[in-house]
Amino acid sequence: MTTSNGTAGRDPRGLAGRTAVVTGGAQGIGAAVVERLCAEGAQVLVYDLSAEHGEAAVARWRERGHAVSLAVGDVTDEQALAAAFAGLPDDWPAPTLLVNLAAGFVFKGIEATEADWRGALDPTIVGLSLATREFLRHLPEHDADAAIVNMASISAHIAQRGYLTYNTGKAAVLGFTRCMAQDLAARGVRVNSVSPGTVWNANNERFHREALGLDRATAEADPEHGGKFLLGRFADPSEVAAPIAFLLSGDASFVTGTDLPVDGGYLAV
Ligand SMILES: NC(=O)c1ccc[n+]([C@@H]2O[C@H](COP(=O)([O-])OP(=O)(O)OC[C@H]3O[C@@H](n4cnc5c(N)ncnc54)[C@H](O)[C@@H]3O)[C@@H](O)[C@H]2O)c1
Repeated sequence: MTTSNGTAGRDPRGLAGRTAVVTGGAQGIGAAVVERLCAEGAQVLVYDLSAEHGEAAVARWRERGHAVSLAVGDVTDEQALAAAFAGLPDDWPAPTLLVNLAAGFVFKGIEATEADWRGALDPTIVGLSLATREFLRHLPEHDADAAIVNMASISAHIAQRGYLTYNTGKAAVLGFTRCMAQDLAARGVRVNSVSPGTVWNANNERFHREALGLDRATAEADPEHGGKFLLGRFADPSEVAAPIAFLLSGDASFVTGTDLPVDGGYLAV
């Protein structure tokens, strides 16, 4: 079969053998994305601030036979980003998949200082832009299969008390995604975002235990916490990785410029 985008005869999901870059891939949702992409047959460059978590995760993945490389750096550091892309293994094809997950976790209201705002917005928006620019520099000029997924959040869509800095950054991710989708469409690059609800990763597990005294089952039974989602629970990281893999894949070949809520129905009501 010949298709108008020239994908005749290709693996319909199209991720096997391709190179992906995942910022913030050393832990949490990012680590689940790396595992999912590896399971689909991609090779992955993890770009992360944490050498400790990155090295441990990459060692674990390599033991399982996954093709994973690590570059330690901040998404706001142009030189480190350039070095990371330049240092990709020679036998990997140029990256055509990018997942921007690194973000500034600063939760402040209007009392936020300049430093707070920079801590929130620099990684979430400036870093997102710099990582995307570096990715585009290495992308073949015409690639009908290239795709970018940016990490938004339900926080991009709603107001949450005391979350001014974080939610402003996540709302900007939606605007960034739409503009990039328009600018890159002619190059064949699709750009989308996902908006998860609360994901049960190590940090959230620690927060609920230490700050609220709640284990997962108790927190999910609470209408203020997991109970606020229509499905009555938190997401597992793999449940966010799966829709990201879909948006990167050929199955989403006519999807661009949009946001996919992965929120257990939270934004529906
Ligand atoms: N966990 C949730 O409930 C949830 C919900 C919605 C959206 N999100 C978003 O998902 C993404 C991942 O969140 P998570 O909860 O899995 O986080 P996490 O803290 O488990 O992992 C984040 C990773 O990003 C890395 N990182 C942080 N700042 C960086 C920087 N400046 N440069 C490079 N790497 C950096 C960290 O070292 C870490 O490995 C974030 O964008 C977050 O806003 C999370």
